This record gives sequence, C-alpha cells and structure tokens, in this order.
Amino acid sequence: MIRPVLRMGDPRLLEKAAPVTRFDTPELRALLVDMRDTMAHLDGAGLAAPQIGVDLRVVIFGGGANPRYPDAPDIPDTVLINPQLTPLSSEEEDGWEGCLSVPGMRGIVPRYHRLHYKGFDQHGQVIDRLVSGFHARVVQHECDHLDGILYPM
Ligand code: NI
Repeated sequence: MIRPVLRMGDPRLLEKAAPVTRFDTPELRALLVDMRDTMAHLDGAGLAAPQIGVDLRVVIFGGGANPRYPDAPDIPDTVLINPQLTPLSSEEEDGWEGCLSVPGMRGIVPRYHRLHYKGFDQHGQVIDRLVSGFHARVVQHECDHLDGILYPM
C-alpha cells in the first residue's frame, strides 16, 4: 500500500529509530511491502521506515536510473535492517541529493566515498558490503534518516 511520506517539519523525522528485534514477521513483511510500493510510486532511490512514520531501523534502496535520478547507476534492490556504517577512508565527495521528505529540492551533500556497511535482511541474514560512489551515498542518506537527520541539516 502506498503510504504518505512525512515532510520536513514533522517531528517524527527527527527521532532516533528503534532496532528491529524480530525478523520474518508478518508485521515486518507488511512494512516492506508498503515501503516498496511507496518508493516505487515516487521514483525514490531509497526510503527509510521513519519517512512513513514507522519508528524502526529499516531502510530500502536500489534500482537504476529513474525520472528523479536519470544518471543513477544500478544498485541491487536491498532491504537493510539495523545497519552499521563504517567509512573506509576519510575521503569525502560532494554530490547532489534529493529526499522524498524534502520535495522539490536538491542539495549538494558531502558523503564518504568508500563505505563498509553491515546489517540484516528481512530474514535476519547478514548483509556485509564494501561500496563506493552513488551506492555509498544512498546508504549514508537513508541511514541518516534512522538517526533523525535530513540532508539539509
Ligand atoms: Ni531521504
């Protein structure tokens, strides 16, 4: 089900989200269906659960070019739960970002270029990846939402 996306100014976007403690539950499956439907409807490159008002450390991202990101490289469709991010070097890179919670705006945001991220998928299987560039940027953007951070901040 497509859900309304909270907009900047909504205090729920500024909270620190809670870890998921049980995987493979009907509630988690239903949340992910709603997140995928909402992200696809809005041509997002990613979405975090707090953006639809759900206080859990769950993000999804992936896909390739779409009308909002015509030059985006392919990123595997990913469900990332309870993520841990570690930059692989201090090197940062500026790039344009948008956010479904900040409609109609783009901004230049510095992000770590190379990133190690870990977490779990919806079944509780470990995800452990080394990425760079746009993939690293999307993960950093989405995971910031779990700590109440929007890119203009
Ligand atoms: Ni966002």
